Amino acid sequence: MTTEIRTVVVLGAGTMGSQIAAVCALAGYGTSLVDISQDQLDRARTQLEQRLSRDVEKDRRTREDVDAAWDRLTLTTDRDAAAATADLVIEAAVEDLSVKRTIFSELDAVCPGHTLLVTNSSNIVSSRVADATSRPDRVCNLHFFNPALVMVCVEVVPHPGTAPETVDRIVSFVESLGKTPVRLKQEIPGFVANRLLGALRREALELYEAGIADFQDIDVAAKTALGHPMGPFELMDLVGIDVVHLIRLAEYEQTGDPASLPAASIKEKYEAGDFGRKTGRGWYEYPQS
Ligand code: 3HC
Repeated sequence: MTTEIRTVVVLGAGTMGSQIAAVCALAGYGTSLVDISQDQLDRARTQLEQRLSRDVEKDRRTREDVDAAWDRLTLTTDRDAAAATADLVIEAAVEDLSVKRTIFSELDAVCPGHTLLVTNSSNIVSSRVADATSRPDRVCNLHFFNPALVMVCVEVVPHPGTAPETVDRIVSFVESLGKTPVRLKQEIPGFVANRLLGALRREALELYEAGIADFQDIDVAAKTALGHPMGPFELMDLVGIDVVHLIRLAEYEQTGDPASLPAASIKEKYEAGDFGRKTGRGWYEYPQS
């Protein structure tokens, strides 16, 4: 049975989840942003209000479009009520396999049979959660980039049991958001873009830790010689050093290769709680307004 996607549920109101929900609401979908923490939802609302108002001020969106998106967007802690009417659930919760498996199995129990269940993870491939459901053919990865309101690329990654029809529907959904889908033929942790970025980040960290150049200069080289909008260290601060740390550990868990472990300087910043923009300090300092 093919059912048109009309209502979307996004699980997890962190940086990624909240912006993904806003993108869906702006594109016309009835959207619920769900989190277990009301505080997190409140923070997400404040950040989205600031972000979208700024877009209006800068003539990037109209006030009418933003108001209409707010009318379509519900922020709630009641996951199961939201999931019961969802056509698509995008999971953007914590990068922990057992948590994700529990979420997928619980969603499977409450969502209608036609609902597509996707994860925004770039590291936990969907075959690792699909078998926690009775609908593995309707499960895949759908990977947005940070900041999701701005970044155009979205990766669509099936596992071997994903139905081709599911991939087609998700690709059409991505296009309806005004984004550009990149369709992978097979799943691999990191997918395409993060593997490219990972290669750059590894080399940048090696150069820095070997004392070859300051991190600021490595960023300047990436921007002025390669034309990247941000250098690898600026990008770590944007994505979150906690996220980078976690992704490395998850990769190590899958590969067993010590080269996958977080670099010493990442571990040090992680242990100091210097996660980047979100904490006000990472590689660079960010005055908190
Ligand atoms: N959220 C939403 N919008 C943002 C934003 C954010 N965090 N940061 C910037 N923007 C938007 C705003 O509209 C901003 O304009 P404003 O300041 O007038 O409101 C506009 O982008 C321009 O921002 P800036 O002038 O601060 O800086 P830039 O021109 O450099 O643009 C950028 C910012 C779009 C983030 C750009 O630097 C960029 O494309 N950087 C690379 C980002 C990237 O590589 N992302 C992928 C990360 S990997 C990932 O996400 C994978 C995941 O699995 C971890």
